[in-house]
Amino acid sequence: MPHRLAVYPGTFDPVSNGHLDVIERGSQLFEQMVVSCAVNISKQPLFSLDERLEMLREVTASFPNVRVESFSGMVVDYVRALGGKVILRGLRTFSDYENEVQMAYANRTFAPEIETVFVCASLEESFISSRLIREAAALDGDISRFVPPSVADRLRAKAQKLKGDLKDHGKGR
Ligand SMILES: Nc1ncnc2c1ncn2[C@@H]1O[C@H](COP(=O)(O)OP(=O)(O)OP(=O)(O)O)[C@@H](O)[C@H]1O
Ligand SMILES: [Mg+2]
Repeated sequence: MPHRLAVYPGTFDPVSNGHLDVIERGSQLFEQMVVSCAVNISKQPLFSLDERLEMLREVTASFPNVRVESFSGMVVDYVRALGGKVILRGLRTFSDYENEVQMAYANRTFAPEIETVFVCASLEESFISSRLIREAAALDGDISRFVPPSVADRLRAKAQKLKGDLKDHGKGR
């Protein structure tokens, strides 16, 4: 039976042009896509869950078959609850490959009926990560090339907090 629904889980702290590229590709492959923001993650996010959801909703509003939700707990339980069979993930570098494949095998062990599908963003977006964006923004770098304009504005508004985080990080070393 063809797969109709794909779930794209992530932290999206914040959503980047790389994420958007993956979302666009997914929206062309599947009838319905749920972009899902993780709640209980080990990372301490810069943006609150509400902020991350709001940004995701703003930048995906033009895709009629994409909706944005949040989830907590195991991703496979969440996908099952939605009646989905596909987890969509993006691949960038070799370091992604190792983590992503490990996660895909773990998820297959928990839920053999759910398949992880990987897509690559276009080459120009392929090196972008949220961490790179947060670090560049903390150093007042021009991040407009990496994120949609509304996200760039929010990053600028967080500049002070970002600088503080960067300083705290340095203290721990
Ligand atoms: N530029 C990109 N190209 C392809 N896939 C991407 C890109 N950026 C993120 N992804 C993929 O999107 C999914 C969700 O990623 P996530 O929300 O952790 O973003 P991230 O950029 O890795 O954030 P962080 O740097 O905070 O870890 C992962 O499968 C990740 O590999
Ligand atoms: Mg990551």
